[in-house]
Amino acid sequence: MIQFEHVVKKYGDATVLDDISFTIEPGQFAVLIGPSGCGKTTTLKTINRLIEPDDGTVRIDGDDISEVNRVQLRRRIGYVIQQIGLFPNMTVAQNITVVPKLLKYSKEDCDKIVHDMLEMVDMPYDQYAHKYPSEMSGGQQQRIGVLRALAASPPIVLMDEPFGALDPMTRSALQDEILHLQKKLKKTIVFVTHDMEEALNLADVIIFMENGKITQMAPPEEMLKNPANESVKNFLGKHIAVDDPSTLTAADFLRTNVVTVDSKKSLRTCTAQMMRSNVDSLIVTDENDKYIGTVSVEDIKSVSGDDLRVADVLKNDRETFRVDDDAKRCFDKLLSTKDNYVIVLKHDDTVAGIITKTSIAKALAERLWG
Ligand SMILES: Nc1ncnc2c1ncn2[C@@H]1O[C@H](COP(=O)(O)OP(=O)(O)OP(=O)(O)O)[C@@H](O)[C@H]1O
Ligand SMILES: [Mg+2]
Repeated sequence: MIQFEHVVKKYGDATVLDDISFTIEPGQFAVLIGPSGCGKTTTLKTINRLIEPDDGTVRIDGDDISEVNRVQLRRRIGYVIQQIGLFPNMTVAQNITVVPKLLKYSKEDCDKIVHDMLEMVDMPYDQYAHKYPSEMSGGQQQRIGVLRALAASPPIVLMDEPFGALDPMTRSALQDEILHLQKKLKKTIVFVTHDMEEALNLADVIIFMENGKITQMAPPEEMLKNPANESVKNFLGKHIAVDDPSTLTAADFLRTNVVTVDSKKSLRTCTAQMMRSNVDSLIVTDENDKYIGTVSVEDIKSVSGDDLRVADVLKNDRETFRVDDDAKRCFDKLLSTKDNYVIVLKHDDTVAGIITKTSIAKALAERLWG
């Protein structure tokens, strides 16, 4: 168990950790996330005493770590640093056994560790054990970095953006691997990322940091359901809507560039406008831009008279929606009506936009695939 109790870290006038308190349970996968410079790496380094806080207490399994010998402490804690950090002049096998050697494991034990570890990530011993980092791809180097942190079997592993520099495919493969390793080896992991997708994939609990403070600490589902503020929401971005459709409103699916016509315009102007915009109906507004109805080609065809105005033929028989109405109500309407759009109004009755089947498809694609 890792406990932060009112931890403060300052550099000069800058407060980098501002009264941080949280608890990570044994065997939990905790993900620290937040904008660059918010204090993630500092928090991580405070756990293995690479950084000493100015105030507050960090405890591991109840012990105040400022009273634990640093070297002994670090034997209990694996560490994967930001950037890969393999020793370039050591082979894979030598890199993996840095800590076991410090701990005076026998040569046989070290060999067995290298064999077992490489096997876990499907990198054959004969092929990889004697390679140097420069002879491997970025993804392979990252795997070795992770293995090195696990090699002495520490109960706690700290990982600082370990997959940051990788392409999405390799990244997602390594995420699966680390989850599998964690389940199998029952580690407590504190993992830093600024990629929300990665956090949602991996975390039992997400700790969201901003300006040295914890904004929210919650399991992924809970954070998606109730993001604590706008920046958490922004980080969750496209994931929120897809995971919780009940938060979607009409505004999320709007097409905003719609053609309207003033009710005082002549029918001839109206027809010309329809032809220019290639539509068979227009939304009609009054002199204050407020919605008052619709006019269609059929409506115009059914009358004759040169001096008729839009106001003389407009219809006001359509149900309209507000921007903050539940999106599902708009969908249901769109699917059940013969009209090919529904009209969405702002609270001052001016036109916010329309929802069409195409605008729905576009907005969904945007949310799903960015
Ligand atoms: N040795 C230092 N001296 C002065 N300021 C520092 C020092 N180390 C870090 N900082 C500052 O502390 C803040 C937090 O840094 P930290 O490395 O923890 O951020 P981070 O959340 O890990 O950011 P990133 O996502 O960019 O890695 C930053 O504003 C940084 O500039
Ligand atoms: Mg960092």
